[in-house]
Amino acid sequence: MNFLEQDSSVIAPLYAKSALDFVKGEGVYLYDAKGKAYLDFASGISVNALGHRHPALLNALKEQSEKFFHISNLFPNEPQIKLAEKMLSLMKFGETDGATTNNYFSGKAFFCNSGTEANEAAIKFARKYFAQKGENRTEIISFLNGFHGRTYGALSATGQPKLQAGFGKMLSDFSHIEWNNADALKKSVGEKTAAIILEPIVAEGGILTPSKEFINAINELAAKFGFLVIADEIQAGMGRCGAFSAAELYGINADITTWAKAIGGGLPLGAVLMKNKIAEILKPGDHGTTFGGNPLACTLGLAVAEEISKPDFLKSVQARSEQLKNGLAELAKKYSWIGEVRGEGLLLGVPVEKPVADLINACREKGLLVLRAGADVLRLLPPLIISEEDVSNALEKLDEACGVLQ
Ligand SMILES: Cc1ncc(COP(=O)(O)O)c(C=O)c1O
Repeated sequence: MNFLEQDSSVIAPLYAKSALDFVKGEGVYLYDAKGKAYLDFASGISVNALGHRHPALLNALKEQSEKFFHISNLFPNEPQIKLAEKMLSLMKFGETDGATTNNYFSGKAFFCNSGTEANEAAIKFARKYFAQKGENRTEIISFLNGFHGRTYGALSATGQPKLQAGFGKMLSDFSHIEWNNADALKKSVGEKTAAIILEPIVAEGGILTPSKEFINAINELAAKFGFLVIADEIQAGMGRCGAFSAAELYGINADITTWAKAIGGGLPLGAVLMKNKIAEILKPGDHGTTFGGNPLACTLGLAVAEEISKPDFLKSVQARSEQLKNGLAELAKKYSWIGEVRGEGLLLGVPVEKPVADLINACREKGLLVLRAGADVLRLLPPLIISEEDVSNALEKLDEACGVLQ
């Protein structure tokens, strides 16, 4: 039995896995059992922002593992507090909230274990917020092609019917409208809207950026009707778009942001950052999780947050983004079947008119790991620490892979 057969003999068939047998990761590379190196432009699907085995992560892991792994949420834990402080300070909620409170952070954090859990919590908090205010608002509006997770609340918000098929009724009072359609949004929101939830860049669904008009409409309608805006930063946040928060980069006035993937430095961690007005209505028992905000995961999360907030880190992400975008634009000139690059920072995609799976396989042959988004988009999610040379290497490999498909 090969590795993949061994896997499928015991693991439920929920993923389309490839036969690669990775044994080690180091920096921006993964190595298979034969010692072949793969430039990792998938980052564990937007998780490994600092690449593999980054010294800051190894140090953080060592330090916390010598104290304790888990104590539950019945006691405060220092890594959780420090990560909340760090993320809230990077989030600048204070400024967008009109700095109405004396709390420097003007917001609070809730930690969970994954992206879907973060969105689940955000949806619950939004509905509870209005219930506590005595307002009958339960409607949640999200966008077609968006992706928010696989549990029922997050799946109900996910605008992809194929992912909901066969799972019975989704939650009530959820609706999906076309992305970037400001008019449709205007017609859909009203006094019953509790929240809209959006990915600042629709990632899984095809790397779709928001138009200025669309963002303006979101902000204006939220101000007019008083509903909450939930920005799902799970794939796009944490420096990936060249800014800490993708919502802030685009000027989306989010009341709640949801986080996962990169914030755990490779360990399972999710978070909800909410303005104080929402945190104020929550009380013990309203929501919770055993593992959420686990000290080990939060220690790694803090290491990630500290790295990405170093003075030149995001500038480097932006520079590598430009380099990659330019290189992809060159490839689009060379190969007629490659479309225009889209996305922001190091969350980039190019539509292709040949089967994406073939291109992904050809890239693997050349030692480059890449992903798909939507039906026909090649998605590139390199670690945020990549160097100029890494990007040049990746572009060369991609060029060679395209040549194979030509
Ligand atoms: C934007 C977005 N939201 C939510 C999720 C769900 O996260 P998780 O797989 O950690 O539940 C994902 C995962 O791909 C995502 O990209």
